[in-house]
Amino acid sequence: MKPKIAAPAPAPTRRSRRPVPIDVPVLDRLSLRIPSGQKTIVSGVVATPARLRRRIRELARSIQDDFGNREWVVVALLNGSVLFVADLVRELHGPLILDFIGVSSYGDGTESGKLVYTKDLKFEVAGRDVLVVDDILDTGRTLSEVIRRLKSLGARRVRSCVLLDKPSRRVVKQGADYIGFQIPDWFVVGYGLDYAERYRHLPFIGVLRPEVIAAAARERVR
Ligand code: PRP
Repeated sequence: MKPKIAAPAPAPTRRSRRPVPIDVPVLDRLSLRIPSGQKTIVSGVVATPARLRRRIRELARSIQDDFGNREWVVVALLNGSVLFVADLVRELHGPLILDFIGVSSYGDGTESGKLVYTKDLKFEVAGRDVLVVDDILDTGRTLSEVIRRLKSLGARRVRSCVLLDKPSRRVVKQGADYIGFQIPDWFVVGYGLDYAERYRHLPFIGVLRPEVIAAAARERVR
């Protein structure tokens, strides 16, 4: 028979609390001031480099307050988070270790599909506090699977940070502790985000023109 009285919960400490939620700005307007040379790629700009910088500074402040002075591990998900994590860690004081895990969902370029690990962690996360960093939280499958894996590897505490959140696309119940911006169901590229591996290098986030997707589909048929 199960005991009726549960063992007392450990006294809450500062480090076991969830991070204090901060307001998440919603980006639902497009600027038509598109950098020259990119007008055939994107139909509008969702976040400029300056906006990204400002928001990343805010996220970093909040993360640093939460993680404090005990060494922690930042695990960035390849490939999409590369630009974001590079800017984020430069705003953090640490102490931290930066590591990468490769995970990809193979779909048709706009829809996510089966998850495959393409690179394992280099660093042992058992007993460590971990911050998972990704570019976008979409269906939630990737983040949910990676968090499950980090916990199964014995991570002491796992927090997550995503630059973009598309809540309308969620198929698994998965949130993130730190979110840069919420966006509507737009197909966005730039600042790490790709379409068929292209456009990750753009320094801003923009909405991909449907003509680009249509042209790529025609190429595939040929
Ligand atoms: C993208 C993105 C996230 C994931 C989010 O990765 O970088 O990791 O999809 O989608 P989800 O919430 O529906 O799982 P992708 O698998 O396309 O690989 P990439 O990082 O190399 O672009």
